[in-house]
Amino acid sequence: MRDVATLLEALPYIREFHGQTVVIKYGGAAMEDPELREEFARDVVLLKYVGMNPIVVHGGGPDITRYMNKLNLPVEFVGGLRVSDKDTVEIAKMVLVGKVNKDIVLRLNRHGQAAVGLSGDDGRLFRASRQSAPDGQDIGFVGQIDRVDVDVLEHIAQDYIPVIASVGADREGNSYNINADDAAAAVARAMGAFKVVFLTDVAGWLRDKDDPASLISEAGADEVEEAITTMEGGMRPKLQACLDAIHGGVSAAYIIDGRVAHSLLLELFTDSGIGTKIRPAQ
Ligand SMILES: Nc1ncnc2c1ncn2[C@@H]1O[C@H](COP(=O)(O)OP(=O)(O)OP(=O)(O)O)[C@@H](O)[C@H]1O
Ligand SMILES: [Mg+2]
Repeated sequence: MRDVATLLEALPYIREFHGQTVVIKYGGAAMEDPELREEFARDVVLLKYVGMNPIVVHGGGPDITRYMNKLNLPVEFVGGLRVSDKDTVEIAKMVLVGKVNKDIVLRLNRHGQAAVGLSGDDGRLFRASRQSAPDGQDIGFVGQIDRVDVDVLEHIAQDYIPVIASVGADREGNSYNINADDAAAAVARAMGAFKVVFLTDVAGWLRDKDDPASLISEAGADEVEEAITTMEGGMRPKLQACLDAIHGGVSAAYIIDGRVAHSLLLELFTDSGIGTKIRPAQ
């Protein structure tokens, strides 16, 4: 009976979301655990089957760090952003585009929906420029996205699930490591997405980052703006990305627990939701 109830609960959402674009930032734990990787792929395929237009944007922080360690290269973060010299960008590009992206594409293919992998360079999807850390510090080839050209993405999304690796280049052809949260927000804005969902390795935005019970289940953009000034770590670029998406017309941004199987479906298709919902200021 509970299964039927769940289906009935999902029905109005499925109707409401039909034909809508949802951008999913895939990162953190859901990407590390083999079983969760399968569940994630199944969930995204299901979204496509029920008539939504899912677009996956991914990072790959842990994988990049692993390869950096193998090559004895230093790993450093400032304000949640990876300090990136030329070598770091080269490795990030190789790992994200060559390995992580293709892993996701293959898995979606296997679960019954053809996916197409892209980086910010393909079809001139992203034009990037150099970005400094929130405190003004130089962090090397870390890019911000200045322009998104969705032409190629719109074509692909009609029939396939686009999977985007968060790297891009400037006009001169210098490559940049782009935070995947920023990339997801930029894609969501440019595609007129209805929602953007960030999968991560915590329950959501926590009032106290060391206390999982301090989950903030809903917040307005104004509250986020206030809190963000004093924040550190990976949650800062994520909340900034939520704000960017909302200011760009996306109706809501969600930060959800990628460690929970099917968290994506639970957030989108149930009344209660499971993570943090960021909505426009009231
Ligand atoms: N207030 C907070 N609430 C929740 N997490 C926080 C907070 N402040 C800092 N964090 C940190 O942010 C991390 C999530 O960001 P992180 O960049 O590490 O992961 P991700 O963005 O999901 O993955 P990736 O960067 O690999 O794409 C959490 O694991 C936590 O350590
Ligand atoms: Mg991150």
